[in-house]
Amino acid sequence: MSRPRILIVDDEPSIRRVLAAHLRRDGYQVDDAEHGGQAIERLEAQPYHLLVTDLQMPEIGGLELLAWCRAELPEIPVIIITAFGTVHSAVEALKLGAHDYITKPFDLTELRNVIGKALAHRVRVGDKPRREPDGRFALVGRTESMQYVYDLIERVAASPSTVLIQGESGTGKELVARALHDQSPRSAKPFIQVNCGAIPANLFESELFGHERGAFTGAVSAKPGRFELADNGTLFLDEISELPKEMQVKLLRALQELSFERVGGLRTIHVDVRVVAATNVDLQAEVAAGRFREDLFYRLNVVPITIPPLRERLSDIPLLVQHFLAKYNRRLGRSVASVDPGTIEQLATWHWPGNVRELENVMERAVLLADGPTLEPRDLHGVGKAVANPEGSPEADQLDLKEYVRLHTARLERSRIQRALDREHGNVTQAARRLGISRKGLQTKMKAYGLRDPERSGEASP
Ligand SMILES: Nc1ncnc2c1ncn2[C@@H]1O[C@H](COP(=O)(O)OP(=O)(O)OP(=O)(O)O)[C@@H](O)[C@H]1O
Ligand SMILES: [Mg+2]
Repeated sequence: MSRPRILIVDDEPSIRRVLAAHLRRDGYQVDDAEHGGQAIERLEAQPYHLLVTDLQMPEIGGLELLAWCRAELPEIPVIIITAFGTVHSAVEALKLGAHDYITKPFDLTELRNVIGKALAHRVRVGDKPRREPDGRFALVGRTESMQYVYDLIERVAASPSTVLIQGESGTGKELVARALHDQSPRSAKPFIQVNCGAIPANLFESELFGHERGAFTGAVSAKPGRFELADNGTLFLDEISELPKEMQVKLLRALQELSFERVGGLRTIHVDVRVVAATNVDLQAEVAAGRFREDLFYRLNVVPITIPPLRERLSDIPLLVQHFLAKYNRRLGRSVASVDPGTIEQLATWHWPGNVRELENVMERAVLLADGPTLEPRDLHGVGKAVANPEGSPEADQLDLKEYVRLHTARLERSRIQRALDREHGNVTQAARRLGISRKGLQTKMKAYGLRDPERSGEASP
C-alpha cells in the first residue's frame, strides 16, 4: 500500500498543525481543511484513506460532515476529535457511524493506536464499503467476526453450493439464510423454509417431497412438497439436527441427485434448489454420537458459516441497541430518544445466553415500559445487574469489551483525571492545564467521579 493519505478538519489552526506534524512524522500524507465545506471539496477532488474531523466548526460541522461521508464515501473511516470531557458527543458520533474518536489534548500513543486501527480496518475490508446497521444484509454488527460472516455471505451467495449455518439460538441464523437468498441470483424466486423440529416424523417425507392423491389416509389431493415449491429458489432446512434418521437418507439422496418422487408417486421430479441448513447444536458431535449421518453432514457442510455468540462480540451491543430502539419506537409508537451510556454499560455485562433475540426482547420491553425520553439502567429491570465482573468470565471477548468500555463510558475519563492528578502530585490547577480544561471544570468532574480534591479538602478542614 502506498502511504495512506489523511485529511484533517478543524477550525483551529494550531490543532491542524500539531496533528499534521505528528502524522507526517509517522509517514502519512496529510492535508487539512478549516471547515466541513472545504473538507468536502478536498474529498471530492481526490481519494483519502482516513478522515479526522473536529465536531464543532462554523457552517458545516463535524456531524454533518460525518453524515455526508457515510452517504457519499462510506469506505472512508471517520475519526472524531473531541475536547476532553465531551465523551457524550463522541458517543453520538459513533452512533452515526464514526469509526472512533480521539480527545484533545492529544495523547500520542492513543492517537497512533486509533489511526493505525482505523487504517488497518480499511485494509481488511479492502475497497468494499463497510456494512452499516440496517444495511443490505439486515444484519447489525461490525465486529471483525461479523465482518467475516458478511464476507462469506457475499462470496458464496451466488453459488449453488450447500451452506450449513451453525450458531447458538438467537444468533441470527435465519437472517443469514435470508441474506444468502437475497444476495443470490435466485432472489426473485421462492425462499422456502422447513422447520425440521416442528414436523411430526410421519409427515416429513410428504412435507419435503409432496404426495400424490391417495398416497396415504388423508391425502385427498396431490400436493407438492417443499422441494418442489423451492424450485429455482432456496430451501432453508432449519434445525436440521432434528431430522429423523430415516429421513436423513432420503434427504441425502435428494441433495445428491436433485431429484425425488412424491410419496405414492412414480414420476421422478427434478428441481434446481439451493439448500441452506441451520443448526444450533454441534452437528459434528451429533455425528460422533451416531444421531446424524456422517455422509449427510459432509453433504450439507460444503460451506460452513458459524455465527459467534453475542457474548463474544459485546462491542456490537451499542449498534444493536440503537437498531432495536428505532425498531420498537416505530412498532410500539413510542418516542424514546436516546439510551443512557450506563444502560449500555449494564447490557455489556450480561452474558446473553439467548443472544441477539434475548437482547431484542429486553429492548422491546424497555422501550415499552420506559417512562422518560432516555432509557435508564432502571428500565432494564435488572438485566445484567447480577454479573459483577464480566471481564472475569473466560468466554467474554475481553478485547472487544475493553474497547467498548473505553469508547462508551466515563471510566477512561476518570482514570485520565486520576493519572493527571498523580503526575501533578495532586495539584488541581496543573492537572487541569495538562488535561486542557479549566480548573473549575476539573473540580466539577472530580466531584462527579468521587475523586478527592486535596486543594479543597485542605481549605475545608478545620
Ligand atoms: N445481527 C443481527 N442484527 C439484527 N437483528 C438480529 C441479528 N441477529 C439476530 N437478530 C434478531 O434476533 C432474532 C433471532 O434471530 P434468528 O431467528 O435469525 O436467530 P436463530 O439463530 O435462527 O435462532 P434459533 O436457533 O433460536 O432459531 C430475530 O428477531 C432477528 O431479527
Ligand atoms: Mg432460527
